[in-house]
Amino acid sequence: MMNPMSRRDWMALAGASAAYAAPQASPTQSRPLPGDADRERRMQWWHEAKFGMFIHWGLYSVLGRREWVLEQEAIPLAEYVQLAKRFNPQPNVARQWARLAKRAGQKYMVMTTKHHEGFCLFNSKYTDYCAPKQACGRDLVKEYVEAARAEGLRVGFYYSLMDWHHPDGERCLHDEAARKRFVEYIHGQIRELLTNYGKIDILWYDVSHPLKAEGWESERMNAMAYQLQPDIILNNRNQLPGDFGTPEQRIEASDKPWESCMTLNGSWGYCKTDIEWKSPATIVNNLATCARGGGNYLLNIGPRGDGSVPEDSIRVLDTVGDWLSRNGAAIHGTERCKASWSELANFTRRGNKLYIIVRLWDGDSLAIPGLIPKVTSARLLVSGDALKYTQNSERLVFHGLPLTPPDQPATVIEAECDGEPAQINRLAIRGRARGQA
Ligand code: GLC
Repeated sequence: MMNPMSRRDWMALAGASAAYAAPQASPTQSRPLPGDADRERRMQWWHEAKFGMFIHWGLYSVLGRREWVLEQEAIPLAEYVQLAKRFNPQPNVARQWARLAKRAGQKYMVMTTKHHEGFCLFNSKYTDYCAPKQACGRDLVKEYVEAARAEGLRVGFYYSLMDWHHPDGERCLHDEAARKRFVEYIHGQIRELLTNYGKIDILWYDVSHPLKAEGWESERMNAMAYQLQPDIILNNRNQLPGDFGTPEQRIEASDKPWESCMTLNGSWGYCKTDIEWKSPATIVNNLATCARGGGNYLLNIGPRGDGSVPEDSIRVLDTVGDWLSRNGAAIHGTERCKASWSELANFTRRGNKLYIIVRLWDGDSLAIPGLIPKVTSARLLVSGDALKYTQNSERLVFHGLPLTPPDQPATVIEAECDGEPAQINRLAIRGRARGQA
């Protein structure tokens, strides 16, 4: 049963067009989108960063049944919008997230400024359905930006184009006047986000349903973003390639810049009952796989409605952060690595240095097949201890290793090579009479 609500409340909150000020069309001088040379400059910090924190937070966080709850449970909009009365987080929780990200070795954050539910965490002149004008009474995006900056982290804005609350959000597909209004609303809000909070490093669009690039006027959208924030980088979810791709819940290397986003359990938005947490070993291995493929890893937290972060997320991120404080050289600032063949270890590389990230440490000896360049020295990253090894064209074998893993959840061996690390094709070894290393 929905709580009683006055017509005025309803008008202010729900899909009544009166709640949405008609935005003035804001002409943006179209200019050529930055080319590849400029992209490299804008993306350099991001390539080096490798690891970021994703934050899904909104009214849905109050319910704790994920961010799609409005649609998945077919909740009447009039009932859902009342969550805005209960969404009143502790002051400055974003500072706790930023500290957590910093401890975890994450270099940037991307927070949902507006998810599909349509509720804005920022102050918008185009709607009352935003945190500063509801019970919360604060601009949560401002708090977030200040928190990230205070911890020296780069700032990203997630913004959902799809909007289940705006009266034109679905209608825009069949009604040109609605499309025009809605697109001006969306562009107007993006302009607010990129104007009112200083320097923003990433704009992370999401779900472009129900329009195509032409309908969203995505070229004009991107041109506006670059014009307002000349150093910004944009993702590819407004139906244009943007600056980087966004494989979701999977790791898939590509020649274009890419970032895998992933949940820590199985949910983006807070889910009380989801306890399927990934282990620190899995996170470290995923991070290494991203770094090996030249990509980034954007790992999500779903804070509760009050902003507190589930303790299991904190535990996992702190463990990963401890590991990175000893082994960050194997991740941050590394480049795409050609080596990938081992069942026991992952690989990353910086120049001619190969990082062998051993997750299944068997002790005493470790063999890496088919490494092409010669290893000129090797050491344990955690202690600096030099390692003994032999090498022929088929295998590199470390000898006399400690029997128990010197580090957890993975031990890193740094091997200096006389060329770029690469391995021969394993089928090439299969037919050979095996020599001895
Ligand atoms: C999907 C989901 C959304 C989530 C996003 C993260 O597009 O719709 O809930 O925010 O993935 O990448």
